[in-house]
Amino acid sequence: MTSTQIDWNNLGFSYLKTDLRYVSHWRGGAWDAGTLTDDHLVHISEGSTALHYGQQCFEGLKAYRCKDGSINLFRPDQNAARMQRSCARLLMPAVPTETFIEACRQVVLANEKYIPPYGSGGALYLRPYVIGVGDNLGVRSAPEFRFSVFCVPVGAYFKGGLSPANFTTSTFDRAAPQGTGAAKVGGNYAASLMPGHEAKERGFADCIYLDPLTHTKIEEVGAANFFAITRDGRLVTPKSPSILESITKYSLLDIARDRLGLTVEEGDVFIDRLDEYVEAGACGTAAVITPIGGIEHAGRFHVFHSETEVGPVTRRLYDELVGIQTGDVAPPEGWIVKVR
Ligand code: PLP
Ligand code: COI
Repeated sequence: MTSTQIDWNNLGFSYLKTDLRYVSHWRGGAWDAGTLTDDHLVHISEGSTALHYGQQCFEGLKAYRCKDGSINLFRPDQNAARMQRSCARLLMPAVPTETFIEACRQVVLANEKYIPPYGSGGALYLRPYVIGVGDNLGVRSAPEFRFSVFCVPVGAYFKGGLSPANFTTSTFDRAAPQGTGAAKVGGNYAASLMPGHEAKERGFADCIYLDPLTHTKIEEVGAANFFAITRDGRLVTPKSPSILESITKYSLLDIARDRLGLTVEEGDVFIDRLDEYVEAGACGTAAVITPIGGIEHAGRFHVFHSETEVGPVTRRLYDELVGIQTGDVAPPEGWIVKVR
């Protein structure tokens, strides 16, 4: 498919081969200069640690077309920092922040025709990753690494965008208490495939993971973080060493506190005390903000605000966040990097 055949208003979240991607290799202790290539296939040793031992990590961030034609990246320094933490956890070399942001800029500019138009609701999703490559057999860190960034135009991750979706809790865990849950590594997502599939088979948008130690507290919503609004107007979001530190979530905490005047808290969200909350949502780069209609747990279904309507606080958070991302609302200092 070429960019002229894309139905911008009805993009989902699917792979589309775009023109150019950035690739850099780490050999002998350093990253090379990096280059753009039209080859979307990866040629690596069959012994690569990425293939056998899950030595890999990835990121997700978006480029947005603004009303004036300029292009925004949303907090790419935060993605760079998180990828550095993921690399450290899996014993992989860090990609410097400047290299990360420069790679993203080059990929966006080289694929500019794939950026969904302003107002379409879509964005250009960037997928940076680092993988362990090179000949190897034993369980050890790879001799070489590949850092790459590709991009795909996307719309809503959960069908319906800003309309409520229902979720069910899983009895499985995606990560262990002191495991790799806080790192954005493929193993966590491999562990989530079956629970996610089971939830979808039963008609839910995805599953909710409870804390792996006690299974009494909400941790994450599929590939997104969780937040909820209490009856007295506080925004609460889970705190745990095994959830991914969502850049969207921390942005929403700042927005809620500094712009909406809400009290914000990172703490425990007990699954058997959901009636303390009047609104709930899933947030992430792909999910943006997806309101949670209801959660099924232990044979009961708890509805928050409504299964069809977006709650008022969730809507204000969404408008402010998306306004900042697409250039309609003034950003907090340092949140937007102009690509052009
Ligand atoms: N949690 C998981 C497991 C994710 O995959 C993601 C997506 O990146 C998030 C949360 C949301 O993080 P962010 O807001 O940084 O995209
Ligand atoms: C993201 O929001 O960037 C994600 O990583 C979600 C998912 C597609 C893995």
